[in-house]
Amino acid sequence: MSDKKKIAVIPGDGIGKEVIPQAVRVLEAVGADLALTHFDWGADRYLADETTVPADGFAMLARDFDAILVGAFGDPRVPSNIHAKEILLGMRFKMDLYANVRPVRLMDAALCPLKGIEPKDVDFVVIRENTEGVYSDAGGVFKQGTADEIAIQEDINTRKGVERILRYAFEYCATHKKFDGSPRRRVLMCDKSNAMTHAGGLWQRTFKEVAAEFPQIETQHMYVDALCMQMVRDPRGFDVIVTNNMFGDIITDLAAGLQGGLGMAASGNLHPGKTCMFEPVHGSAPPIAGKNIASPFGAILTAAMMLGHLGMTEQAEKIEAAVLEAVRQKKCTTDIGGSLGTKEAGEWVASFIACR
Ligand code: NAD
Ligand code: IPM
Ligand code: MN
Repeated sequence: MSDKKKIAVIPGDGIGKEVIPQAVRVLEAVGADLALTHFDWGADRYLADETTVPADGFAMLARDFDAILVGAFGDPRVPSNIHAKEILLGMRFKMDLYANVRPVRLMDAALCPLKGIEPKDVDFVVIRENTEGVYSDAGGVFKQGTADEIAIQEDINTRKGVERILRYAFEYCATHKKFDGSPRRRVLMCDKSNAMTHAGGLWQRTFKEVAAEFPQIETQHMYVDALCMQMVRDPRGFDVIVTNNMFGDIITDLAAGLQGGLGMAASGNLHPGKTCMFEPVHGSAPPIAGKNIASPFGAILTAAMMLGHLGMTEQAEKIEAAVLEAVRQKKCTTDIGGSLGTKEAGEWVASFIACR
């Protein structure tokens, strides 16, 4: 039996099909002992034979793979976005990957749109609940197309779901360091409990209870609107932020803006002990797809995150160091001030690693 880790690779749509090959190239350059299997799930497959996820697809991923590396889903030819919903939200929900971990790290001051902000000032992580909330698809439309139409989109918050994501955030804080080696110290819960009182009440009560298990960790609370303002005014105080599914979605695009844009942001969809899924935060970016201009760094940093999760810490660190060097030397795409294409930026990172 080989002890190679088995990885399912699903590039998906748009720039997913350009950035994932660069992430794979870098995984190869770093010599990670992986067996990769490629899947064609995405808009092309859906348009060809109406398959979004083949029968038993999620069971197969959970059974046969150690991790999943994903690009992005979304294609203007599928206006319903049904394939993205079934594949991407399907993996998160049906594989119960309840913690969406989205690190926010500024690699170079030049990438941050804020004045006077240095890399050490932006090093936080958003832990986004990933299996509930308004993404649960509970609700419906009544009297569609009439003047009396009603659309209901329910916000589902379970005690178990809220408790496990809050505990995940505290455990993450207790066990992870910042990039400068200093310990993480504080968990901030972000909600809208002043207006959404039923769900907010559950989050508030559970936060207090779980926090009591971690007396060494400081706690803080912010309403999501105030947090957005603070994030662009002064992001220095953030450490670990935990929040629900929708607020997590929104604040991680905002946070990506602090680190150089969506082309830099990585994420992991995790459930300890299960097959986990890793994807850049960005989408399929149809207007720039197929032009060799998308940044591959979000996908490459996502691949590093996957290696870290699989215990290949040394290789993960080598990849992060190579991306950092590429950013510093402007060996990158135009969105972060370079002049390279997607392929060339991936190639530069891969050859930097190979030369070490
Ligand atoms: P998007 O993330 O695709 O793009 C937002 C903006 O960021 C665009 O200006 C785009 O050009 C830029 N951008 C994104 N990635 C970049 C990269 N790697 N390098 C340089 N610039 C980059 O979001 P959108 O435009 O709102 O959505 C497009 C499609 O992607 C939609 O169908 C949406 O549903 C889907 N989407 C999918 C995922 C996913 O699969 N995880 C995530 C977000 C959006
Ligand atoms: C993300 C995306 C998805 C989300 C979309 C494509 C459903 O924006 O991964 O951040 O909202 O979770
Ligand atoms: Mn998003």
